[in-house]
Amino acid sequence: MANLLEWSRAYTGRLDEADKSKSASKLAAIEERLKTEVATGLLPFLSMPYRAKFEADLAQVLPKITNFKHMLLLGIGGSALGCRAIQTAFAPGQDLPNHQGKSVWVMDNVAAGQLEAMLAALDPKDTVVVAISKSGGTIETISQYFLVKDWLKAALGENWTKQMVLITDAVKGYLREEANTHNLPSLEVPDNLGGRYSALSAVGLLPAAYLGIDHKALLDGAYQVAKPLVDDVKNLANHPSFALATWAKALMDKNYSQLIFFSYIPQWAMYGPWFCQLWAESLGKEGQGSQPVPATGVTDQHSINQMFLDGQRDKGCIFVTCRKLQSGRNFGQDLPEKWSYLRGKPFANLLEAEGLGTQMALCSSGVPLVNIDMEDTGPAQAGAMMMLLEAATVLTGWLMGINPIDQPAVELGKRLANAKLGATGYTKEEADLKAFLSVARQEQAF
Ligand code: PA5
Repeated sequence: MANLLEWSRAYTGRLDEADKSKSASKLAAIEERLKTEVATGLLPFLSMPYRAKFEADLAQVLPKITNFKHMLLLGIGGSALGCRAIQTAFAPGQDLPNHQGKSVWVMDNVAAGQLEAMLAALDPKDTVVVAISKSGGTIETISQYFLVKDWLKAALGENWTKQMVLITDAVKGYLREEANTHNLPSLEVPDNLGGRYSALSAVGLLPAAYLGIDHKALLDGAYQVAKPLVDDVKNLANHPSFALATWAKALMDKNYSQLIFFSYIPQWAMYGPWFCQLWAESLGKEGQGSQPVPATGVTDQHSINQMFLDGQRDKGCIFVTCRKLQSGRNFGQDLPEKWSYLRGKPFANLLEAEGLGTQMALCSSGVPLVNIDMEDTGPAQAGAMMMLLEAATVLTGWLMGINPIDQPAVELGKRLANAKLGATGYTKEEADLKAFLSVARQEQAF
């Protein structure tokens, strides 16, 4: 049995079947656009033309880093979240007591204390550093690169270059200059592959391969979903990514402003933040979009679920389950009478029952819900889900009439931060900052 999308509770609440017609009327134009953009290389996340080059580069770089016990990964946003999702899903060992094997540590923040703690805990001799930035100029990543490069140099001298790998644009940007200047091992982020669509390139797959995760299965699983979109777009109407996009757009049109991503696959919890970045940065444009909300079953039943169930009626839900979760150990036969219904049952039965309970409760509260029901939780299925969600995000953006690949709004905060730090070329931002800071503060102690 395949992975499934289950639709019986999707067109509920304020939605009905008629809501599909608006997107259906755009189908021919979207098919045409898809054909053109695939053919002109604008959607490499779908067609994966980079795969052969990536495999060849990986074969060069992996042997150089495979003996290090730790990988310290510097990156942010799309250059970090996919890696973290894949690592927690398929190599969770590093979070367990007495872990002996390899570990990947993702530094995706400007957190001085955390960086100090990390550098104090790691031995540079055992550590390969991987700095990831598509643009090669993201200040958060580059500043960590400068500091960690000094840390490596202090311990290793000229040999620092053997323990620094860069993943960046093939030609442009500061990290590419660094790779060229110091002859550092490097891998490419292909042209037109935006950060949040890059998890299934070197960005997410070098760390995966280092950890021994089957990166080929991730790619193969993803391509199974992408293939019909790449090969024969005549079938777009029947592709689950278009069905998801149609539904998501219908939700937005009916004032469902939040989209819950509720995963009942506990080890896939980090796919929540990955999906939410993908959705938010792609679709929050021109006053449109829906706010993605990550949630993990069952943990969030005791946290934000009350709001899902009885807060504002403004939420749709993508509910993720798996038919073949590890069942775990069985409860004993000697449980107290009050809990006798658990006797002899595997621990995972609880997750399944609670998942069903939550799904029904959401439906009873009128939350339109699509269930992504996975065949299993291996890398091939994860790759398939990632591709489904990436394709659905782009198609939703096209239905909305916005560009799902760029992220212009987040640039302003970056420019203002640069101005504050004294970078040149930000005259207007300096003036704006001055005006912002000149407003009298209204402080209240607590
Ligand atoms: O998804 C995106 O495009 C962004 O979140 C980027 O990944 C993020 O800003 C980091 O950019 P870069 O990889 O250029 O350092």
